[in-house]
Amino acid sequence: MSQSTVLTNIGSLVTNDPSLGDGPLGLLTDAALVIEGERVVYAGSAKGAPPADNSVDAGGRAVIPGFVDSHSHLVFAGDRTAEFNARMSGRSYAAGGIRTTVAATRTASNNVLDANLRRHLTEMRRQGTTTVETKSGYGLTVEDEARSLAVAAAHLEEVTYLGAHVVPAEFADDPAGYVDMVTGPMLDACAPYARWVDVFCEEGAFDGDQARAILTAGIARGLTPRVHANQLTEGPGVRLAVELGAASADHLTHLTDADVDALASGTTVGTLLPGCEFSTRAVYPDARRLLDAGVTVALSTDCNPGSSFTSSMPFCIAVAVREMGMTPDEAVWSATAGGAAALRREDVGRLSAGARADVVLLDAPSHVHLAYRPGVPLAAAVWARGELAVG
Ligand code: NIG
Ligand code: FE
Repeated sequence: MSQSTVLTNIGSLVTNDPSLGDGPLGLLTDAALVIEGERVVYAGSAKGAPPADNSVDAGGRAVIPGFVDSHSHLVFAGDRTAEFNARMSGRSYAAGGIRTTVAATRTASNNVLDANLRRHLTEMRRQGTTTVETKSGYGLTVEDEARSLAVAAAHLEEVTYLGAHVVPAEFADDPAGYVDMVTGPMLDACAPYARWVDVFCEEGAFDGDQARAILTAGIARGLTPRVHANQLTEGPGVRLAVELGAASADHLTHLTDADVDALASGTTVGTLLPGCEFSTRAVYPDARRLLDAGVTVALSTDCNPGSSFTSSMPFCIAVAVREMGMTPDEAVWSATAGGAAALRREDVGRLSAGARADVVLLDAPSHVHLAYRPGVPLAAAVWARGELAVG
């Protein structure tokens, strides 16, 4: 029998199960949570909690589900400090910067890529993230994409094939040849490691027809699409994502009414990446417009060395509230349950019986403090799959 632990004296518990408490967050006060092995077995009133082997006193503080970071690019080498510096002196962001990281990644050993990935996963965990999706996309050869995904798959369940991140320099005169490789031998080598296929559908990367060919080839190999869409310009990415039944369309910085209508009428989650607009000095996406249209919104870091080098979901929550029209409740939901929806996961992003025991104890009386106290490290303790990982 695995050991059980009760968290008692929880001042405020975000369950994300509306049947358990108030509003979409299913908020409970004076609550308890019992975990056993890898699972939650009880979330409810302190009075009704079953006995457990061990007890942790939350001291009246808040407990939330571990963050679900549904969009990151953690398999890379090097950094882009100089590019960031230039941007903060007025230069604008362009997709071409990706090639700098591609050059560094191609020359890095698997051990270096693995160590970098683990360093960022540890950083995320310390801030309360317990589910992470990550992508390839800095290899852009058959071999470098496949080994990038092998490194990711050694640590993560949510792995995305992004051979279509940008056309690498050696194919500059033959983008069609590169798409053939991405949909042919590269897909063959990469599909066994991945659950998802992604494409950067953007000026300077892949157009709508190329994106359709790449996503369709991935679907035929059993991968489910997600799309980098409408980051730098309005374009066909969002509508293509919805048409192909993508789990998520990500960025959504420049949207037409037709894009919003498409998202509202489909099942594709809209994933917003505030760290990206912050670090590229771009306009922020209008989360309010999406939420008011009824779109399911996720928040994620997009952690990568070019456009968003933050691993912090609390930072993203704070920016989304301050700059994108989200309420603190909406932002916390989007960073937990929203991320789970973007990854089509039922077992994470909530704290109710049967969920994975991914739990964050905040050094704060309420989840609202994640937005109210920007930049403050509030994750006092983190349990991942029922194991105390931080604290
Ligand atoms: O999601 N937009 C495309 N890909 C990344 C940026 C990658 C980079 O600049 O290295 C993103 O923002
Ligand atoms: Fe990205």
